[in-house]
Amino acid sequence: MKGIVLAGGSGTRLFPLTLATSKQLLAVYNKPMVYYPISVLMLAGIRDILIISTPSAVPVMRGLLGDGSKLGLNLSYALQDEPRGIAEAFLIGADHIGGDSSALILGDNLFHGSGLRELLRSSRRSLDGCTLFGYPVADPERYGIGEVDSEGMLVSIEEKPRHPRSNNAITGLYLYDEQAVDLARGLAPSARGELEITDLNREYLRQGRAKLVELDRDYTWYDCGTHDSLLTASQYVQYTEKYLGERVGYLEEIALRMGFIDAEACYQLGAGMRESNYGRYLTEIAYALD
Ligand code: DAU
Repeated sequence: MKGIVLAGGSGTRLFPLTLATSKQLLAVYNKPMVYYPISVLMLAGIRDILIISTPSAVPVMRGLLGDGSKLGLNLSYALQDEPRGIAEAFLIGADHIGGDSSALILGDNLFHGSGLRELLRSSRRSLDGCTLFGYPVADPERYGIGEVDSEGMLVSIEEKPRHPRSNNAITGLYLYDEQAVDLARGLAPSARGELEITDLNREYLRQGRAKLVELDRDYTWYDCGTHDSLLTASQYVQYTEKYLGERVGYLEEIALRMGFIDAEACYQLGAGMRESNYGRYLTEIAYALD
């Protein structure tokens, strides 16, 4: 399975924070936002990841993450010069996917929960068509909203409905079989001129092969796209790390736990940042986990 992090867009809801920098490079507590979605793909066992972002942000992301080899990953980059829709990721990423199944995650989405690795593993194993992840929200008119039958299969999906049929937001993590690129090629732009991810999901729904996994209270999900959600996500990570002693989005630790790198590599990556709590933590756990 190939991974894509879609980290473009103009971040207008975060102005003036994003007038001169990309949203996905902003801090969520102690690390750049893009660490969190990358960590989710890594937890799913995905090592081939394409990061799609704007012409100004790609060089900065490349400077931050390089080719991924330090984390045991294979990272590549592609440009999206205008936000022409989330489903465009499959046109831009067609060569990267190359007939494989794929996982797409939005660069401003943060997922956390102790069962996440197992949930992703079992979702990959049982993938047939597409698998989406739902999360209960108080403001469903802001999201893609899904309705499911008793088997967890999607029966309806609507983008930002005025009269939502449920409060189950479709989060920004999508697993697809090998058909995604072909189906995306057949999509037409919506009234707002975008290739909508909801339209791609509707294609799978039509085939009766769109599943929605509902994330319960054991999981936390944030879309960090507004001033308030960005702050709340930062506070969540701070609280979880400082007071619960759990770490969120430590790429080097995840690489070690997943067996992508060894203890010495993790230790050295931490040692290079030992002036920060983040780096010191890595040096402390590197050999302890081995
Ligand atoms: O976060 C989950 C929601 O994400 C879903 O519930 C919705 O179904 C889905 O459409 C999307 O809604 P948003 O209103 O958050 O979409 P937005 O246009 O803000 O884009 C989401 C992220 O994807 C954002 O970080 C920017 C990035 N993006 C978006 C578009 C349209 C791109 O990189 N390129 C694009 O062309």
